[in-house]
Amino acid sequence: MAETYLNLIDGEWKASRSGHTFPDVNPADTSDVVGHLQASEAEDVGDAVEAAARAFPGWAKTPAPVRGKFLLKAAHALEQRLDEVADLLAREEGKTIGEARGEVTRAVRILEYFGGEGARLGGETIPSERERIFMYTVRQPLGVVALITPWNFPIAIPAWKTAPALVSGNTVVLKPASQAPLTSLRLAEILQGTGLPKGVLNYVTGSGSRTGTPLVAHPKVRALSFTGSDAVGREIAQVAAKRLARVQLEMGGKNPTIVLGDADLDTAVECTLNAAFYSTGQRCTATSRAIVEKSVVGPFLDRLVERTKALRIGDPRDPATQLGPAIDQNQLETSLRYLELGQQEGARLVYGGERLTAGPHARGHFLRPAILRGVDKHSRLAQEEVFGPLLAVIEVDGFDQAVETANAVRFGLSASICTKDLARALEYVQRAEAGVIMVNLPSAGIEYQIPFGGVKDSSSGPREQGPAAVDFYTETKTVYVKY
Ligand code: UN1
Repeated sequence: MAETYLNLIDGEWKASRSGHTFPDVNPADTSDVVGHLQASEAEDVGDAVEAAARAFPGWAKTPAPVRGKFLLKAAHALEQRLDEVADLLAREEGKTIGEARGEVTRAVRILEYFGGEGARLGGETIPSERERIFMYTVRQPLGVVALITPWNFPIAIPAWKTAPALVSGNTVVLKPASQAPLTSLRLAEILQGTGLPKGVLNYVTGSGSRTGTPLVAHPKVRALSFTGSDAVGREIAQVAAKRLARVQLEMGGKNPTIVLGDADLDTAVECTLNAAFYSTGQRCTATSRAIVEKSVVGPFLDRLVERTKALRIGDPRDPATQLGPAIDQNQLETSLRYLELGQQEGARLVYGGERLTAGPHARGHFLRPAILRGVDKHSRLAQEEVFGPLLAVIEVDGFDQAVETANAVRFGLSASICTKDLARALEYVQRAEAGVIMVNLPSAGIEYQIPFGGVKDSSSGPREQGPAAVDFYTETKTVYVKY
């Protein structure tokens, strides 16, 4: 019988008022229930927000370097538990153990980085037009912030929202996605274990509609940072706008990898393979469109198919596995639906796309990655986010057409270009409608110490991560002193 886990509210681990729970299921083996979590409702959310509001004044006046120290301690504690937390992540989310270890390590680095940020959380001094006037700014926290995080990076994203929120002096209510909530519970537990004052960090689980909705609507929540679907992001923005709460949204992508005729083909194939299929295509920075110059599309596809065929699909906790399952039945069906739709729209399936249901795959949501060519850039397959291991290959005549095709979607998160021509690469950086540009690198796989975010329908609000991350979590106070 799997264990039941509790919410963290006001420094205590508590059951939801209703006592209802929901199961957290291993997507590679649906007979394996990883745990039961609290199905929280408006009252539980209210308790968490009220606890955070009570804790705010004390936390806000705690010196920032002291706040940072809690994060540094948590970084150390998480690093000690890396093996265990990475195994849990692979088990509940389905990414490979190698990727899971990478992600937990990333969370450690994020905690270290923002821990150090406590000692750097300064404002600016600006010269006045007038004599004997000293002008400067200071940063101040906002109050209670709500963090709503997705299942696909179940520790990195909670860490990269929680760490800057806390070091800036806000108090937090974290609501993780229900498909993979336990990894972030470990993060909450570790942070609480550093001796954080009660109510500074609160953690509540439950569905988007019954837990997320009252959290978004709560009048004491001053800011919301959300990563997830574009439909939910838009709703959050509308609700928050009514009370002028701050919003930061990271939503979908339809990211391109451009392969120019002069590209090193091995690099282009490895970048595409990684970005399109690793993490089972379940990254908002994943490549879902390969935009390839006609002159090289033949050899590019031959090699890509050969490399894709060799991928080992199976149990994410087996170190030899390179590709895990879809997160759930729903996500798997979405991929299958787009696969069919793409072919109806005229694309040709070059490789893959079969459901894997035998032997080691019998109890999980496994799908062989699919490559489709002859995709029309206006088709739904080329325009809509799938969030699965489906790659649409679009052939173009040259650089200008590649750029135009890459930009011809409503999203703009990340984009990759493979070329040896520096001028073309830099011209693409200039013209790309995306928030993150990768040259000769996969479109996914970002670092924590540099800003991250998109343009167009992919993002809204200030950037996450890097030094810019605290902009969202702080308000600037401007001071004039006549002496
Ligand atoms: C990455 O590419 O390393 O949810 C991270 C997502 C993004 C994060 C991508 N917000 O997939």
